[in-house]
Amino acid sequence: MRIALVNGSPKQSGSASDALLSMVKDHLKDVEVKVETTSQQWNRDSLSEQDLQELEKCDVMALAFPLYVDSLPSHVLRCLKQLEEYRRENPGKKPFRVLAIVNNGFYNAHQNRPAVEVVQNWCKHADAVFIGGLCIGAGGMVSGIYRMSGEHGPLKPIAKTVRLAAAKIVQEGGTNCEIMLAEPAFPQFLYKRAAEMQWKDVAQKNGLNPREL
Ligand SMILES: Cc1cc2nc3c(=O)[nH]c(=O)nc-3n(C[C@H](O)[C@H](O)[C@H](O)COP(=O)(O)O)c2cc1C
Repeated sequence: MRIALVNGSPKQSGSASDALLSMVKDHLKDVEVKVETTSQQWNRDSLSEQDLQELEKCDVMALAFPLYVDSLPSHVLRCLKQLEEYRRENPGKKPFRVLAIVNNGFYNAHQNRPAVEVVQNWCKHADAVFIGGLCIGAGGMVSGIYRMSGEHGPLKPIAKTVRLAAAKIVQEGGTNCEIMLAEPAFPQFLYKRAAEMQWKDVAQKNGLNPREL
């Protein structure tokens, strides 16, 4: 089974989307099915012919991206539109299964659900099969904790959903296209306080007075 791990974050490195895809990749090592993975970063406005051909060779696309204004980043939308057209112009391909992994800056994971549903609707238009979604809250701390143990501590709830998602990816023909929600096991008020401290620090480093923001 060939799996495309697609990162829709515009960040070159250190994104929460990248961290979540790394976790998926790690869990795929434990499954019984033989899997091959290929990675793409959609931090641009369009896909190359090579990207499109590579995606068409895959059985599954795990698409991870950050929530932007309660929806998808515009460059991810454009890439999806392009892939949809490519699939329409090249019909008769093998089933293409899609998992959406969306993370956001606010704490609450449920805010990502509409963006996952956009991907679900896209699947209908692109003759793809939606196999489920992961909504991950408090994305601001994911890249800092994703290498911690998933057995206990703040990563535990996220690790659990990623493990279930990896199982979904390799379960061909599964009809359960559940949308799962997870936030780190970390108090919301502390997450908010840490985010505020970080913003003030960045503002000061850029010569801005936090009071003026
Ligand atoms: C333009 C822009 C819009 C955003 N809109 C939202 C939003 O509507 N809700 C939210 O919770 N976070 C929002 N965020 C925060 C990102 O979703 C958050 O920082 C996320 O963890 C980034 O993921 P990444 O590291 O994978 O890029 C926004 C960030 C940017 C830059």
